[in-house]
This record gives sequence, structure tokens and C-alpha cells, in this order.
Amino acid sequence: MLDDKALDQLFRNARSQNGWLPKPVSEAELRRLYDLMRFGPTSANCSPLRVVFVTTEVGRKRLAPALSAGNLPKVMEAPVTAILGHSLRFYEDLPRLFPHNQTARSWFEGKPEHIERTAFRNGTLQGAYLMLAARAVGLDCGPMSGFDNAKVDAEFFPDGAVKSNFLCSLGHGDPSKVMARHPRLAFEEACQIA
Ligand SMILES: Cc1cc2nc3c(=O)[nH]c(=O)nc-3n(C[C@H](O)[C@H](O)[C@H](O)COP(=O)(O)O)c2cc1C
Repeated sequence: MLDDKALDQLFRNARSQNGWLPKPVSEAELRRLYDLMRFGPTSANCSPLRVVFVTTEVGRKRLAPALSAGNLPKVMEAPVTAILGHSLRFYEDLPRLFPHNQTARSWFEGKPEHIERTAFRNGTLQGAYLMLAARAVGLDCGPMSGFDNAKVDAEFFPDGAVKSNFLCSLGHGDPSKVMARHPRLAFEEACQIA
């Protein structure tokens, strides 16, 4: 089991951020984060997550028109905002990613609903792995779904093969902007043992 310091960093003291300190995040940190998150499991190792790390003023200006009013100032302040999307062509990589079963690609080809469901489920899981990996390398997260997905897709994924899911700002959070911690469901409310 991880020690208390690690558990606090990943879960108990980790908060969703609403403001950011003016401390940069390097590409090396983003690569370190990715190199951890990519080991999180996905079905048939399909790995549909695609990420755009928006780190420049030019990138932030491209993202701005899609953001809700509440999220706009947070994204403008954050050193990095990751656009988390899922590829609808993920199955083309299965011969390489799932090499022991060379028929895996055929499970998806020509089946758009199955492709979409699988990409969304596993891309969302990988988004959660990304947040935990960010915390593991010492970064804070600010996840956001308050934005216009169609606008983000048109601007960042114009060929239609990747669909945005959610955004996550990354950096060093401003502790003065964090809300009071909201309650969580107790084990008895959320779980059964059958
Ligand atoms: C997928 C997702 C979407 C979210 N969307 C928004 C958002 O658009 N704007 C916002 O201010 N917070 C957003 N949040 C933040 C949540 O409200 C926050 O994670 C939750 O209240 C728990 O807060 P805590 O991590 O500080 O305990 C989002 C969180 C997640 C995981």
C-alpha cells in the first residue's frame, strides 16, 4: 500500500482547482505525466485518448470562444489546459496494440455505435488516469465540461476523427480559489457487497 503522503497527494488533499499560480509547466513534465497515464488499462488495450495540451496564448485564444463564462478566466490563467478527446479510428491501431489477436480490428470496423461507445468509455477512463498521473507528478488539475464540444472539435479536430470529451487545466493551483470540500457518498450509500 502507498504511504499516507502519497494517498493525500493523489486523493485526500487533491482538489479541483479554480485558479492558478503563475508557475510554468514544462513539456518534460507533460511527457512524464503521459508516460505514466498511458499504462492505465483500456478494453483490448485500445487507448483511444487523444490530447491537445494548450500551452500558448495563441492556443488559449483558439479555445476561448468555446468556453462557458465561468470557465473562461480559469483557462486563460492556467499554464496548460488539456483537451481530452477520443479517436473514432482507434481500432486501426489494434493490430499493433493488441497483437496477440489480429482479428480485433474487425470487432469495430463498420460498427459506428460500438466504436463511439468504446471510444467514449475508454477515453473517459484515460482522462481519469491522466488526472491521477498529473497529481502523481506534482501537478494540480482543474477538470471542466462547461464548454461547447462542437466548437472545440471544429477548431482542434477538424477532420472529424477525434471527438472532445472534457478539458483539464494543469499547473499549480491557487489555494485561495479552492472551494470548501463537498461531501462524498459513504460506502453504504454507493456500494453493495453481493
Ligand atoms: C468531468 C468533470 C467536469 C467538470 N466540469 C466543471 C466545469 O465545467 N466547471 C467547473 O468549475 N468545475 C467543473 N468540474 C469540477 C467539479 O465540480 C469538482 O471536481 C467536484 O466538485 C469535486 O471537487 P474537489 O475535487 O475539489 O473535491 C468538473 C469536474 C469533472 C471531473
